[in-house]
Amino acid sequence: MASDFKLDLPFRPRRLRRTASLRAMVEETVLHPADFIAPLFVVEGKARPDPIASMPGVFRLSLRDLVKECRALHQLGVPAVALFPKLDPKLKDADGTQALNPDTLVLRAVRAVKDAVPELTVITDVALDPYTSHGHDGVLNAAMDNVANDATVAILREMAVLQAEAGVDLVAPSDMMDGRVGAIRKALDAAGYTDTGILAYSAKYNSAYYGPFRDAVGSAQAAGTKLLSKATYQMNPANRREAIEEVLLDIAEGADMVMVKPAGLYLDIIREVRNATNRPVAAYQISGEYAQIHAAAQLGWLDLARCRHESLLAIKRAGADLILTYFAKEMAGLLAK
Ligand code: PBG
Repeated sequence: MASDFKLDLPFRPRRLRRTASLRAMVEETVLHPADFIAPLFVVEGKARPDPIASMPGVFRLSLRDLVKECRALHQLGVPAVALFPKLDPKLKDADGTQALNPDTLVLRAVRAVKDAVPELTVITDVALDPYTSHGHDGVLNAAMDNVANDATVAILREMAVLQAEAGVDLVAPSDMMDGRVGAIRKALDAAGYTDTGILAYSAKYNSAYYGPFRDAVGSAQAAGTKLLSKATYQMNPANRREAIEEVLLDIAEGADMVMVKPAGLYLDIIREVRNATNRPVAAYQISGEYAQIHAAAQLGWLDLARCRHESLLAIKRAGADLILTYFAKEMAGLLAK
């Protein structure tokens, strides 16, 4: 029963939510295909796309299928891809030797993609985790109880130069070693790659939500039954101020863009980083964020399409200019309609 009670209000916020047209007029954040970077997994051989159980709709791709996928992404307006190789376990060793093989899988992938779709921005990870038998992002110290920082950075420099030589637009150091951005910048410049940029994983947290990705590249299997803890290099999820320190350090060392990772659980960090720098800020909606939306949708507990959109909108609203997401292709397809 409608009552005749009337509030005397000077401003009623609901006025601007009354119609779809008004709501669209005052909408503050809009997603575009150009906001997204698609992470892609690549494998040796010519096999059909190999599904990743914990990441529905995501596949490990042969070089041929990778090129096809890149063409499709480019046509949909997605400006960039980030390539991740899954190596044959037989090729992994304690020092991640294959990372410096000039013909290693990811470098062949870069050449193939740049050859077929030169306008597409190609990004590669500079980190050892796909290559090490223990699954860590670096080489171990003599006592074998921690990752050795400087010895790891020495390898990263060479990796970055190989990637630049293969034609990547941006190298993305992702292991949180100290001093890596500066060392990579120097190495790139010395080799003549002054135009190759650095997208630094600056505030990368030691997250439990990386699980599905580690299945996808096999770094969890490499670690075996031993829990793979990256707590001595990735950031403590409890820390906020430290993220700003990391970002400012990376910028001082020459990062062109900085990244926060994961994204959805770290919206406060994205916003603080946004306020602390005028450099472009990227955020990585990681495998576990993707998996949990799919899992809840499969149980019928959440609506996939709406959660997908809202999760990405929140990341952009928090201040991210670019979002790495496994939803990139389907979102670009939807937004293009
Ligand atoms: C490590 C790396 C990780 C991811 C990309 N590169 C995390 C890790 O294993 O520590 C995670 C991406 C994801 O979960 O989607 N260099």
